[in-house]
Amino acid sequence: MGKLTNFFRRVGPLEEAEAPQNNKNAIYGAPAIDTDLLPYVEISKIDQRIMVYHKPDSIVAENFKILRSNILHPRTGLPSKFVMVASAIPGEGKTFVSLNLAFSFARSVSTVLVESDLRNPSFSTWLECSFAEGISDALLEKVSIKDIIYKTNFPNLYLIPAGFTIEEASDAFASERLVIFLDQLRQYFPKSFVIFDSSPVLVASEPIYLSRLVDGVLMVARYGYSDRDGINDAVEKIGRSKILGLVFNGFNISSLNIISSRFKYYHLSKKYYRKNGS
Ligand SMILES: Nc1ncnc2c1ncn2[C@@H]1O[C@H](COP(=O)(O)OP(=O)(O)OP(=O)(O)O)[C@@H](O)[C@H]1O
Ligand SMILES: [Mg+2]
Repeated sequence: MGKLTNFFRRVGPLEEAEAPQNNKNAIYGAPAIDTDLLPYVEISKIDQRIMVYHKPDSIVAENFKILRSNILHPRTGLPSKFVMVASAIPGEGKTFVSLNLAFSFARSVSTVLVESDLRNPSFSTWLECSFAEGISDALLEKVSIKDIIYKTNFPNLYLIPAGFTIEEASDAFASERLVIFLDQLRQYFPKSFVIFDSSPVLVASEPIYLSRLVDGVLMVARYGYSDRDGINDAVEKIGRSKILGLVFNGFNISSLNIISSRFKYYHLSKKYYRKNGS
């Protein structure tokens, strides 16, 4: 529990002031369900790659704060609350970005992180925890949605894992059940931030269906790994109007010369890349 306490002690007064409240006019606030009735999962160890937790003063954590702030306070319109993190191909850093973003958001806003990548579920490894049923089981109507939203030992952070029936469930993404699932999630978490860690867009159809139902999509590309055509194809499949921006993972700021100027740039980041580069 020591580390947890440290984590929340680092949160400054501004963020404490932003903690979820049930002011009816506030954009963000507490869930609309009794969270004491939700199943509980203990996050026992947080992977070192979740830099916003382990190195909150690092460049990477700083970039996640900027990203969070850009999402919370868009230049125009209302903030996107249901955000899918997508990329063209496997291994570009969607899970890395989703988890860091979720921990960053949970410092100040009630946050739900959904493991909607049925192809490569990995939350239990990143967080050393074991889940029971998840989104796949709810989509197949084996359990209710309330049974798969896990309250965690982190205040404000809820997790929805992939679940057991992942192969059968991929077809359910194309069905009405996904619409109902998201509708219910919006009812239960009307003032929360919900992040969907997705499968690669050029490999799986699930993220395409999901992208139609979320408020916005954050594309991830990885420096020295992703190619421009792949990113463009993925963006076309999702539809440009849904794209909130591009997270340039592992990006070296000095080589800022590619990708359309319509994207925002976030370099995440040189420092992490050098230490843990794979
Ligand atoms: N900036 C980075 N620097 C170094 N390694 C990174 C970086 N981002 C991600 N990685 C590593 O690359 C691997 C793939 O990252 P991650 O699992 O987040 O990708 P993904 O897009 O979710 O892949 P998949 O589509 O297979 O689920 C992981 O081992 C992760 O630690
Ligand atoms: Mg992943």
